[in-house]
Amino acid sequence: MVEVAFGRSSKVDLLQKVPLFRDLSRKQLQEVARLADEIDVPTGKRLATEGESGHELFVIVEGNATVKTHRGRIIRLGPGEFFGEMSLVDGGPRSANVDAASDMRLLVVGRREFWSLLEAAPPLVAKIMSALSRRLRDAEASFSA
Ligand code: CMP
Repeated sequence: MVEVAFGRSSKVDLLQKVPLFRDLSRKQLQEVARLADEIDVPTGKRLATEGESGHELFVIVEGNATVKTHRGRIIRLGPGEFFGEMSLVDGGPRSANVDAASDMRLLVVGRREFWSLLEAAPPLVAKIMSALSRRLRDAEASFSA
């Protein structure tokens, strides 16, 4: 089961350690803390299901997740990385299955909060765009391989 972990002040301390949030000011971090929920999930928990609608962005604080694409590619994501951004950006269904490959601590940002987050913390826009481009390149490269 998913279980809520800490309060907001310890959350800011935690956020400072996540590479995705490295360039943010203290004020921006407080805004992230306000908009993101912290959850712990056990190994094997399905976090995104291909083809289903998706309503959250997940940022990995601790542990690893496995992305399995519909063509059978497996990509491992670790602390500081994130997933679930594609469905939030274009409103489309989840593009892959994502499972917890270990016990994990995650930050979860809902759809409405996602857009507020990008407004409050513009450095995140470039990081998310950069990850999207990289993922598209990887997908293209694996397609032609
Ligand atoms: P979304 O489509 O919302 O849900 C599944 C997520 O898996 C997707 O967002 C991305 O965050 C992630 N994902 C899909 N394809 C890749 C890939 N090639 N590399 C890394 N992550 C991916």
